[in-house]
Amino acid sequence: MSVTTDTTPSAPARGMNALGALSEHLVRVLEKNGADISQLGVPPQPEPSDGLWEDVSVPQARARRNMWRNSIVDAAHDEYLAFRFDHLDDNQKPNTLRNWLDSLIEAKKLDARPGTLNMIVPGPIGSGKTAAACTLGNEAAERGLWTLFVKHATYLTWRRPDSAPHNMKAWEVRKKFVECDLLVLDELCGEMDMTATEFARRETVDLIDARISAGRPTVYTTNLRSRRQPGSPAMGVVDILGERLLSRLESSAHLVKVVGPDRRAPAKPLDW
Ligand SMILES: Nc1ncnc2c1ncn2[C@@H]1O[C@H](COP(=O)(O)OP(=O)(O)OP(=O)(O)O)[C@@H](O)[C@H]1O
Ligand SMILES: [Mg+2]
Repeated sequence: MSVTTDTTPSAPARGMNALGALSEHLVRVLEKNGADISQLGVPPQPEPSDGLWEDVSVPQARARRNMWRNSIVDAAHDEYLAFRFDHLDDNQKPNTLRNWLDSLIEAKKLDARPGTLNMIVPGPIGSGKTAAACTLGNEAAERGLWTLFVKHATYLTWRRPDSAPHNMKAWEVRKKFVECDLLVLDELCGEMDMTATEFARRETVDLIDARISAGRPTVYTTNLRSRRQPGSPAMGVVDILGERLLSRLESSAHLVKVVGPDRRAPAKPLDW
């Protein structure tokens, strides 16, 4: 005969746990604001040992990790979930990414605007841009930042009525991608050319402008140059964003150019 033990806490015990978590949070807020909590007869709170910034409770952090994961799964990019800074090559600048993430966590703790708001990751096809940006997202989500991934073209599609997954309304799509702590906007202006619709331009400018105004950091990957190169038919990012917005974006940004060959190219070129 097997005996199973019901470990579900009783309703009163659950209530006490919730109260305990609430009072711990209140004590942290009081401490943060310089209050002398010894007057309250409460023992000093230990520093969180799990790398989370202090205002994030463990269930909230778990929920945020899931939101990041779901955004990667929605993009069918599950293969990038396992990447960590240690897996990146030097040309993907793991130290720059790591230092920037540290600065974002510091700013979040202080409820301040990050010193450098944006990360621009340009580079040729297949050089490892998305992997680098997703690595940053994986590490950020693990540290309690509400982080989301979306491909620029997908965002534009989802902003059309009744086009987003999970029964999301178009306004909910904008809200979550504007409000998340950190956004990875992959393939900026990827499938656009000079005939890009007014809708695409307006939506792109709106998203980026809203995030900059609110002081929310964003990572942009792109195959494009900032400006059209002489003699090249390829447009530049400026052709969609306009000079004013590109200048605002660049005025507070790290540039991580990922150089190198196309990692997807077969060792022996296919002859067909
Ligand atoms: N440091 C790495 N170690 C091993 N594999 C990697 C690394 N970085 C990227 N890759 C792999 O190389 C391939 C191309 O990487 P990635 O998708 O990041 O390129 P990309 O620059 O975003 O390409 P695109 O321009 O098509 O968007 C992927 O299969 C990815 O898993
Ligand atoms: Mg990519």
